[in-house]
Amino acid sequence: MSDNPYQDDHGNKDASITNTKGIGTMQPAHMKSGPTHKVDGGPFLIGDTMTGGYGKGPDILHDCTIAVDKGEIAVIVGPNGAGKSTAMKAVFGMLNVRSGAVRLDGEDITQLTPQDRVVKGMGFVPQTSNIFTSMTVEENLEMGAFIRTDDFRDTMEQVYDLFPILRDKRNQPAGELSGGQRQQVAVGRALMTKPKVLMLDEPTAGVSPIVMDELFDRIIEVARTGLPILMVEQNAKQALEIADKGYVLVQGRNAYTGTGKELLADPEVRKSFLGG
Ligand SMILES: Nc1ncnc2c1ncn2[C@@H]1O[C@H](COP(=O)(O)OP(=O)(O)OP(=O)(O)O)[C@@H](O)[C@H]1O
Ligand SMILES: [Mg+2]
Repeated sequence: MSDNPYQDDHGNKDASITNTKGIGTMQPAHMKSGPTHKVDGGPFLIGDTMTGGYGKGPDILHDCTIAVDKGEIAVIVGPNGAGKSTAMKAVFGMLNVRSGAVRLDGEDITQLTPQDRVVKGMGFVPQTSNIFTSMTVEENLEMGAFIRTDDFRDTMEQVYDLFPILRDKRNQPAGELSGGQRQQVAVGRALMTKPKVLMLDEPTAGVSPIVMDELFDRIIEVARTGLPILMVEQNAKQALEIADKGYVLVQGRNAYTGTGKELLADPEVRKSFLGG
């Protein structure tokens, strides 16, 4: 096998958008392993009992755990201000956790920078400012491929196959696109690194119900290629319907955790978070 993980022959067209070989192919084993160590077992990606907040401010997260396993869609729901985005940022390394840990494929990555986590295989689409509005659609995708040194045109074609409207608008400034199309650019940009896990913070924010359904369909399609997806969603009911695992966060804590089905069937969850 070549040293370049992106030159693997992936056979299956759909699966080739992900790196199905798991952690370890991103850099050769003889390269520095950093302040990390590997233990087996546990979910593929987990923010484990995280406590922490922004800078020197108060703790926002209190022993908060979110995780996603291979082949799964995990969904985080909860009221505004519950700390959903903060939990995602903590998993991505954008704020310090005072206690708890983040592990990717068994490796403790709590001390890594977001950039290093991207290299490790994490793709993250934040809730806001997730595209470069003055750049074209294609330039946005190229920016997404920033860590790659190989030819990424195949991946770009896969993104265009997934979101055909982006192919039509490839030379248009991304800022001119509709809300749903911008979200496609943001997800496409994250896919350009061929991540091993995809984190999406409210991918359907501000779009119509029809566009939401369409985006969910695309997200399911991506998940079916074997890429685990950890996402925050305000459309709680619809999201839990497609979730293998669900987390309800309230005031920075885990309030309810279960399969999507279990949470949808829980009378307390229904009454408090799903509108009855
Ligand atoms: N950059 C920041 N600096 C300081 N405090 C912040 C920052 N971002 C968020 N907070 C605070 O953290 C708490 C949780 O916010 P967060 O954005 O994580 O909630 P959320 O569940 O994602 O809400 P929403 O559903 O509105 O997106 C809030 O009290 C918020 O004011
Ligand atoms: Mg949020």
